[in-house]
Amino acid sequence: MNRKEDYFDFILPTKVKFGPGLRSQVVEEIVSRDFQRVGIVTTEDILELGLVEGITEQLKSEDKKIESFSNVTSNPHLSTISEGFEALRGFQPDCLIGLGGGSAIDATKTISLCLANDEANIVRLDEREERPNPCVPFFAVPTTSGTGSEVDYWAVISDPNSNRKLSIGSPEMAPLTAVIDPELTLTLPPDLTFFTGIDAFSHALEAFFSSKNNELSDILSIKAMELVFRSLEKAVESGDSITARGDLSLASALGGAAMQHVGLGLIHAMSHQVSGFYDTNHGLANARLTLPVLNYNEVEVPERLEKLEGRLEGNFLDKVESLFEIRDLSKYRVEINEEDLPKMVDRAIKNVNAETNPRQPDRSEVKKLYRESFTIE
Ligand SMILES: [Fe+2]
Repeated sequence: MNRKEDYFDFILPTKVKFGPGLRSQVVEEIVSRDFQRVGIVTTEDILELGLVEGITEQLKSEDKKIESFSNVTSNPHLSTISEGFEALRGFQPDCLIGLGGGSAIDATKTISLCLANDEANIVRLDEREERPNPCVPFFAVPTTSGTGSEVDYWAVISDPNSNRKLSIGSPEMAPLTAVIDPELTLTLPPDLTFFTGIDAFSHALEAFFSSKNNELSDILSIKAMELVFRSLEKAVESGDSITARGDLSLASALGGAAMQHVGLGLIHAMSHQVSGFYDTNHGLANARLTLPVLNYNEVEVPERLEKLEGRLEGNFLDKVESLFEIRDLSKYRVEINEEDLPKMVDRAIKNVNAETNPRQPDRSEVKKLYRESFTIE
């Protein structure tokens, strides 16, 4: 054992509690740590589904004080984070719960960092030379299965002024505990199930092909891909299958753990630009890019493909293609303006995720991949 990938650090800072019906254990986590003032960060959709009520009732029965911020939108903006900070600042929570999809959990991470440092502007905080105070401790309760944000310390926040998606992260931004209850995903509609499932798959795929991959990240990413292959179609078609939902929730967590350690690749480097410019759903943007980027990378990774085919049954590329037959993507037009393309290409090449892509593209190759993946107007 003397290859570079045989040497690695692997830290999973987040405790994971996993299982159907387990969501109330977030309250037990709070009680056992003697937190008293709980800030809940979520979305209006989650409020309307009544998913917050059960948790708040239990917290009240334990005499905990609660304040909620539910204005998180998809692709949360810098202003969302400042707004959440202002909403919770006076309450002075000693812990937070992020309840929702990746947007709610990413917002929780950044709001908790802002609260701990009494700074409304997360960019200003991120750019400070001195090390910030650690986050207000927080718990992640995901209601989708894709983001991986429940077990990693990265948050992606949109800056609409520059059309950028900012990746902000440090080990202090990891959730204390992720309470992963697949029952919370049972009501996800088919398209959202598909897009979030593809996001989970793309994390595992990019982590597996990352230039920094190692044996442990491979174990996590291969298992995550296997779970998506096994259960994405079932979860899309029979949303109430708790077995399929459980597989996808686990795939999300495993993919998140893998990507946190070895990074991602060109799918994410390019898709963040699409969402930054057009607010496109992250999973949809990834879905468009997955096959073109995989085909582009293929020539650089024959040994990695061989390894995958030894672990997963069947031809890997055929299996990925069949994933994209589950849902007709043609009804989701994603248009890119020709005039935005040069800036998007520039930013994709410089994006942190591109650094670990197994093949380093030049500008014309990235432009070609955008053209293959999206409608250019
Ligand atoms: Fe992602």
